[in-house]
Amino acid sequence: MAEIGVDVKKAAEFLQQSQVIGIPTETVYGLAGNALDPNALSKIFEVKNRPRFDPLIVHIPYKEHLGLYVKNIDTEILKLIDTFSPGPVTFLLPKMDIIPDLVTAGLPRVAIRIPSHSLFRELLDMLQFPLAAPSANPFGYISPTQAKHVNDQLGEKIPYILDGGQCEVGLESTIVGLDNGELTIYRKGGLDIDAIENIAGKVKVKEFSDSNPAAPGMLKSHYSPKISSRIYEDNIKLSLKTGALRFQNYLNMLPVKNQFILAENGDLNLAAQRLFTGLRWLDNQGFDQIVIELAPETGLGRAINDRLRRAVVQ
Ligand code: TXA
Ligand code: MG
Repeated sequence: MAEIGVDVKKAAEFLQQSQVIGIPTETVYGLAGNALDPNALSKIFEVKNRPRFDPLIVHIPYKEHLGLYVKNIDTEILKLIDTFSPGPVTFLLPKMDIIPDLVTAGLPRVAIRIPSHSLFRELLDMLQFPLAAPSANPFGYISPTQAKHVNDQLGEKIPYILDGGQCEVGLESTIVGLDNGELTIYRKGGLDIDAIENIAGKVKVKEFSDSNPAAPGMLKSHYSPKISSRIYEDNIKLSLKTGALRFQNYLNMLPVKNQFILAENGDLNLAAQRLFTGLRWLDNQGFDQIVIELAPETGLGRAINDRLRRAVVQ
């Protein structure tokens, strides 16, 4: 198993030696390596068992560093960067040659994020290079929001996990870019679309799909528990081996101990923060089926429901 600790200097040393380690962010835990070093990048794909056509997000500490890696930033996008970074949002920007093709899967744009998590920022500040980091889960499985989640699945394959506590947001970053000149959300995530529209006006929103060449990672089946899962409907046959993910209230027909409530007070931020912990818990109780209640389709509920709908695709 990996060592779990809060030693930022030690974490930096591993990264300087082309190793990959677990790191905390405000969204989900990442599996980080030197974004400019093909050796480290190859290790990320290997450890995660991720296909190389699925590009990686590059994390930098300050917007002043953008000029080192990208060119020609559109003014609308710049306004969003100024407003929402550091934070749970990623921008697709025209890449410079210094970014290896392995990062972008050969695409002309690189995904860049400036995270707000203080321990992660401290780490980025110590390094002479940016960090590529996908979510620290095996490809297709539920993202980790605690150091222990990372250790449970990837602990055998990495030397160190920097422990930054429970992720505050709990959903991956919102991905924004221009599509034919139009501001577009490529992945719903931790930054609410309403907040973006308050600054930028109406934006286009891509729904997940099986074949979306512009965002290769937006595969339909993702975030999936191992146990057979479906969206709850009244006519589903329940048994004592059914587990339920509920938004706010218990289902009367099932024992309370079979159920995980996301937010008793109905708060969507709290529900997002607890979402992946809930799915992981349900996946490990020995149930033979999981039934899932969707959140209200407003604000962060849209991103929560995007993850839940993809979790039930086999
Ligand atoms: O919150 C997050 O974004 C977390 C933390 C660790 O920062 N990272 C994360 O990475 O969720 P990952 O690899 O699990 O998801 C990144 C998504 C993928 O769907 C990928 O296809 C898309 O970003 N992506 C990355 N680079 C891209 C590019 N150049 N063009 C289009 N999509 C890109
Ligand atoms: Mg992921």
